[in-house]
Amino acid sequence: MEKPTPPKTIEDLLREERLFQPSEEFQNKANSANPAVYEEAAKDRFKFWEEWAGQLHWFRKWDKTLEWELPDARWFVGGKTNIAYNCLDRHLPKRAQKPAILWEGEPGDQKTLTYEQLFQEVGRFSNALKKLGVCTGDRVTLYMPMVPELAIAMLACARIGAAHSVVFGGFSPEALRGRIDDSQSKIVITADGGWRRGAAIPLKQNVDEAISGDSPVKSVVVVRRTGQAVLMKPGRDFWWHEQVAGQSPRCEAEPVDSEQMLYLLYTSGTTGKPKGIVHTTGGYMVGCYATARWIFDLKEDDIYWCTADIGWVTGHSYVVYGPLLNGATIVMYEGAPNHPENDRFWAIIEKYKVTVFYTAPTAIRTFMKWGESFPQKHNLSSLRLLGSVGEPINPEAWIWYRQIIGAGKCPIVDTWWQTETGHIMIAPLPGITALKPGSATKPFPGIDADVVDEQGNPANSGYLVIKSPWPGMLRGIYGDPERYRSVYWSKYPQWYFTGDGCKKDADGYFWVLGRVDDVLKVSGHRLSTMEIESALVDYTDVAEAAVIGRQDPIKENAVVAFVTVKNGVSATPELGKILKDHVVKKIGSLARPDTILFTSELPKTRSGKIMRRLLRDIAEGRVLGDATTLADPAVVESLKKNYSED
Ligand code: WT7
Repeated sequence: MEKPTPPKTIEDLLREERLFQPSEEFQNKANSANPAVYEEAAKDRFKFWEEWAGQLHWFRKWDKTLEWELPDARWFVGGKTNIAYNCLDRHLPKRAQKPAILWEGEPGDQKTLTYEQLFQEVGRFSNALKKLGVCTGDRVTLYMPMVPELAIAMLACARIGAAHSVVFGGFSPEALRGRIDDSQSKIVITADGGWRRGAAIPLKQNVDEAISGDSPVKSVVVVRRTGQAVLMKPGRDFWWHEQVAGQSPRCEAEPVDSEQMLYLLYTSGTTGKPKGIVHTTGGYMVGCYATARWIFDLKEDDIYWCTADIGWVTGHSYVVYGPLLNGATIVMYEGAPNHPENDRFWAIIEKYKVTVFYTAPTAIRTFMKWGESFPQKHNLSSLRLLGSVGEPINPEAWIWYRQIIGAGKCPIVDTWWQTETGHIMIAPLPGITALKPGSATKPFPGIDADVVDEQGNPANSGYLVIKSPWPGMLRGIYGDPERYRSVYWSKYPQWYFTGDGCKKDADGYFWVLGRVDDVLKVSGHRLSTMEIESALVDYTDVAEAAVIGRQDPIKENAVVAFVTVKNGVSATPELGKILKDHVVKKIGSLARPDTILFTSELPKTRSGKIMRRLLRDIAEGRVLGDATTLADPAVVESLKKNYSED
């Protein structure tokens, strides 16, 4: 197979449209090296997924692979299994002494948990949860830093058949309250705090605020992490270490139905209210297992590090479940990439001899900005495979990642998927696929993805859809079947609508362009323009708000808010600051607007719809598009004049 000659400079590469073939060495050892898998899987999708399912443990084998009554899918119907059993018990005694988790705290403290130890810790906490009255089917909210106890708590919930709902530690108390109330969690697991850039995040204090007054929460379990002072309410709040002390390390895994809810994960949609995405057990397990094995090419001696926070779906599927189902050793890091210095990630790779590294384009672009000197201080030669997720990766960042981090030799797997899809859907198979910088390449075998136009005809440029059910697909929006149907299954009545624009080139490669709806990606985090607008108009002085994403070279999108104030209120810079803080209070710091622009009016159509496209044009400094439907063209002129960055 043809191999590219080593490039001279990054600039040379960018001028070329070249393919990066897998090296012979990589190909020879790859978990998946037979290109025929694509055709075989397309011919018989069920057989493909059944073979994967057959490699895992089922207390009772399924009767039927799929029951599909659009939009409701049931996979491995009648089967009984347990994902925690498959992540832990299945590896014992063979991997008893093998590290499952290599953990490093931000201050530099370390902990290793072997498969045996992780099994025991999960057993103890499962028993503790039972003692607190958690039953099969209950929801448990986890609001925690990146500590091993977070993975332990997830696995313990799964072990006893309860569903976890992990809420990212960057969300505010109000956002946490909304998620707790929607899921009706009776119990919250948290920590006193977590370290981030040298500061202790007040997690327990946030929980106290989130469950004050009316709340379904009866108990709170608190991990002691930072040692900061916290209030412990007698009868409600319990220390983790006290709860597990004296518990048996053994707790039999509950054989749950394949369609038992495994977790809820809230994500932003196009309205002000986040959606509780429902994932179930059997299909999700099979999808995570298969994709992790083939896309990350996991081998017995790999040290695998996915840098995502477990609060996002990437952390669920590819920090915890996918790799542990494969018996891999995972690295887990608590803190920021620039603490104490900008080289922290590279120091971790060198120290633990990480072989497979999975991160986000936003992070890669930030590292590019910081400069090559930081990775060059470290020996990164253990790396053999790199991954990217969360947003489109621009070719320049791709090449930098390949050359500077991957020494020009590591394949890069650019993985497209969503909270809703559960596992990776479009990505290279690193031993087979010739890579094109910026393309997630092709759908994983057994995944029926396509690009179609507005009418649903096959197209080279249009919307990304999934035409057949897949094992890890969401099973709904918690408590809102109507919204589930209308968001995903109404644009095209037969297909799953992803909300992404996409191109397909002559070789059949997919180039995902990003969202076509009012969902923003800011530093890889998913936000809704409507959610931020609701937070702004919640403030008494604000009359109206329109939020858009302005293209940003590092973060993909920057949040720009156009705000009109009520009569008699003066639009001062101070008010701008107050409004930014108000958004942080309502949602969390991840949603803080970069720019707030006060205006006396928002551009609207005659029917009163805010013209966001025009606002985007203004924010990005473009010549204005069609404004003929505008009720008052003068509004745009004055907006344009007043627009300035702060
Ligand atoms: C949205 C889903 C995937 C798990 C983490 C984010 C965008 C994701 C890629 C990629 C281009 C990507 C899409 C998608 N996206 N991966 N490799 N190339 N775009 O999950 O928060 O649910 O966001 O992220 O726009 O719809 P999420």
